[in-house]
Amino acid sequence: MTDHLVITGASPLRGRLRVPGDKGISHRALLFAAMADGRSRAIGLAGGDDVYRTRRALMQLGVPITAAGSGITVGGRGLDAFVGSDDVVDCGNSGTTIRTLTGLVAGRPFRTTLSGDESLRHRPMRRVVEPLRAMGARIDGRDDGAFAPLTVDGGALVGAKHVLTVASAQVKTALVLAGLQASGVTEIAEPHPSRDHTERMLVALGAPLERLDATTIRVARGTPSAFEATIPGDPSSAAFWLVGAVVTPDSDVVIEGVACNRTRIAFVDVLRRMGAQVEVELTDEVLGEPVGNLRAVTSPLTGTTIAGAEIALVQDEIPALAIAAAFAEGVTEVRDASELRVKESDRIATVEQLVRAIGIDVESSEAGLVITGGRPRAAHLQSHGDHRIAMAAAIAANAVDGESTVEGWRSARVSYPEFSDDLAVLTRHVP
Ligand code: S3P
Repeated sequence: MTDHLVITGASPLRGRLRVPGDKGISHRALLFAAMADGRSRAIGLAGGDDVYRTRRALMQLGVPITAAGSGITVGGRGLDAFVGSDDVVDCGNSGTTIRTLTGLVAGRPFRTTLSGDESLRHRPMRRVVEPLRAMGARIDGRDDGAFAPLTVDGGALVGAKHVLTVASAQVKTALVLAGLQASGVTEIAEPHPSRDHTERMLVALGAPLERLDATTIRVARGTPSAFEATIPGDPSSAAFWLVGAVVTPDSDVVIEGVACNRTRIAFVDVLRRMGAQVEVELTDEVLGEPVGNLRAVTSPLTGTTIAGAEIALVQDEIPALAIAAAFAEGVTEVRDASELRVKESDRIATVEQLVRAIGIDVESSEAGLVITGGRPRAAHLQSHGDHRIAMAAAIAANAVDGESTVEGWRSARVSYPEFSDDLAVLTRHVP
């Protein structure tokens, strides 16, 4: 992959496509298969660098994982078979890898050091370190555990009641993985619902997890069972094509076999509120997750407000939704979104720069953005090393006349290495 992508714009997006397997479900499939006692098989796992990091980390901790055809096989032998590593576990750019693994190794009787790339080493870790310490975990790290590298001296854990101040599925999952190893019960309450793959999958795999209400779950000691599953497509990847189709003249795309979990496709509600024609057709269920086809066609858009509890459900789609806002008539306001500041990049700053670079009025505040839609234009764009900024730039560039460049394109491989090939597939369908 070269490090820039040149896009010759105003190419309608037409046709049907499958996007790579869902990143969140793929990480969890690997983690749960590794904890199970028995052989699991997952087909269509996300091929990007983030999921590869979880896979490699588990292998480093003694879990046999082999690739076979389009799938991988995990020879789970239960948590007692995990072994310590004398090397640092390198989580790359992956927040899900480092945070969930911290919870997992907190209960294992050996020392693990976890770190990652420059961006990951500056993302907040106290949100997992402090509640894990409350369960008896011994974790050290830079600035008293605020940042990676983190060193975890695993051992016996005790269940605890956690009241989280951020709605974060990564933090919730770390605590669930610790809770499955702890004595007694662990309760986790979130300020708003975050994505619920961990709950759905663990219940489907027979682990002792129950939902008490919309924001509270309870976990007891136990393990998931081994499984075989085909991982559904990633809605956060599909979102780029759906927004791309909505804003590009003469477009009509169907993304097939996508995870349609309500905590992941809230961006469809936002797009519909803006006037977009987007259809969801449910077809299947895998590991407790609804699966379906998503279709979008070119539509005129008007601005909207995205705020409050909705933010936790669309935060990975804000870069794509910002492109919809850039093409919409009127003002789109994003509020209560301070979490965007601590993603793979500071996404309030990087989305602002992207939207401004395509010639659109935008203002930022500490926790939000105000975008006044207009007529975006071709430009020289930057990914800032963030995969979702790279792909948001690409769909904006594809929708407008003239040649654009996305600099730092390589970052797209974190979640969607095939993106530029798929762009060619969808633009080639032009009559
Ligand atoms: C993820 C949860 C979200 C999301 C990230 C993946 C997960 O992060 O932004 O891309 O797989 O649990 P937070 O849980 O930190 O909000």
